[in-house]
Amino acid sequence: MSELQEDCPASQYKGKATMEKITSLAKRRGFVFQSSEIYGGQNGAWDYGPLGIELKNRIANAWWKEMTQLHDEIVGLDAAILMHPRTWEASGHVENFTDPLVDCKKCKSRFRADMIPEENLAAKKCPDCGGELTDTRKFNLMFKTHIGPAEDTASVIYLRPETAQGIYVNYRNIIQSNRMKIPFGIAQIGKAFRNEIVTKNFIFRTCEFEQMEMQYFVKPGTDEEWFSEWRRRRWAYYEKLGVKMDHLRWHQHGPNELAHYAKDAYDIEYLFPMGWRELEGVHNRTDYDLGRHTQFSGKDLQYIDQDNNNERYIPYIIETSAGLTRNLLMILCDAYDEEQVADKGNDDDWRTVLRFHPNLAPVTTAVLPLMKKDGLAELAQDIRAELKEDYATDYDQAGAIGRRYRRQDEAGTPFCVTVDYQSKEDGTVTLRFRDSMEQVRVPKAELAERIRSEIKAYKRIK
Ligand code: GAP
Repeated sequence: MSELQEDCPASQYKGKATMEKITSLAKRRGFVFQSSEIYGGQNGAWDYGPLGIELKNRIANAWWKEMTQLHDEIVGLDAAILMHPRTWEASGHVENFTDPLVDCKKCKSRFRADMIPEENLAAKKCPDCGGELTDTRKFNLMFKTHIGPAEDTASVIYLRPETAQGIYVNYRNIIQSNRMKIPFGIAQIGKAFRNEIVTKNFIFRTCEFEQMEMQYFVKPGTDEEWFSEWRRRRWAYYEKLGVKMDHLRWHQHGPNELAHYAKDAYDIEYLFPMGWRELEGVHNRTDYDLGRHTQFSGKDLQYIDQDNNNERYIPYIIETSAGLTRNLLMILCDAYDEEQVADKGNDDDWRTVLRFHPNLAPVTTAVLPLMKKDGLAELAQDIRAELKEDYATDYDQAGAIGRRYRRQDEAGTPFCVTVDYQSKEDGTVTLRFRDSMEQVRVPKAELAERIRSEIKAYKRIK
């Protein structure tokens, strides 16, 4: 359950992004802001600004389409964050969802024991100030609160630490309401909360985050086959999204890393600027979860196979579990590029560009009048109004056209439409491509269709 690779070296990373650049661009352009910044910020929580929420929604939509629309046998769910507390006893989270924790008695710093050098742990010596460390104790990562007016043990409730359990407790409802037959899946996107001891690297590890999880229910004995199949499919998904494939790798969990529910688990890791880190997990959870919920709820959660002499069994579960907010960080790092575009010896020689896949870009098309005057602004607004029906658009008439292109490059807008004097005469506009910076003239009546075909044919060139 814990991720042990905080200190893995970043030396293999050859990209242009650094976490400082990504954090600063995210704030400057309205992707991600620190939560409650005017009060000094809230550790472990982040707010998604105008471009950030668009990007997050598009990543979620791409995943949702991939996992539900493209699979007849996978349906969606949106379960509550607050669940019956017995859920977390059954799932094993009350007992097992812990990190080992040590405190420094002198400087009061708090560390995950598995993230400080072994010699410090053995000598009980603080890696920051050399002070004495406390004994290691288990720290449960679930946020606990109370429901109702009384704050007693009977009112304890948890913020869910994973979305998966909402799926398991609805497994019977969904079989009955949607007449699902094994193998089938249930997909869900939603918030999860963990009281992480160490939150660092921007939005990589936070206390409040979002997950995109799919639980696939299979007949015992077919689980290993489905486990391989879902590993294959999740790898292919990132390829389709246009992610740099040499920045992805598999990591199989060793015996000490396996979560309490897992028989086998592989992470898809991404090479972030700070090194290789987990992006998504594919887990063989066996019949652990449904078995435990049967035991704790007293309800029969066996599947009855009507096509096979009413054979009864508790299904095995193959889980694919990706962080949505972590995917957003990955997409930002993956898209980030800096490029020299001129040789005049000033700042304008360079551009920062986010090479998002057009399906993920927060703004698909920006419409820019060359000048505000002579009716060009009005014409540009009319063109934008038409494009709005099909695409997320932006409009910018402020400053030199080169500067405006740079602003759109930095926001990752794949297409700019420039309206100039010729547009008034012959009804054509300039369509500029973010990645190549090439420009072509297109009749404005054909713009929407041209953009559609460009998106369909999109191949990342850098
Ligand atoms: N249901 C299984 C599960 O939750 P996990 O490996 O603990 O497995 C799955 O989490 C994914 O959720 C991770 O691969 C990561 O992308 C994301 N995730 C986990 N903890 C996170 C955190 N504190 N902040 C951001 N994302 C997190």
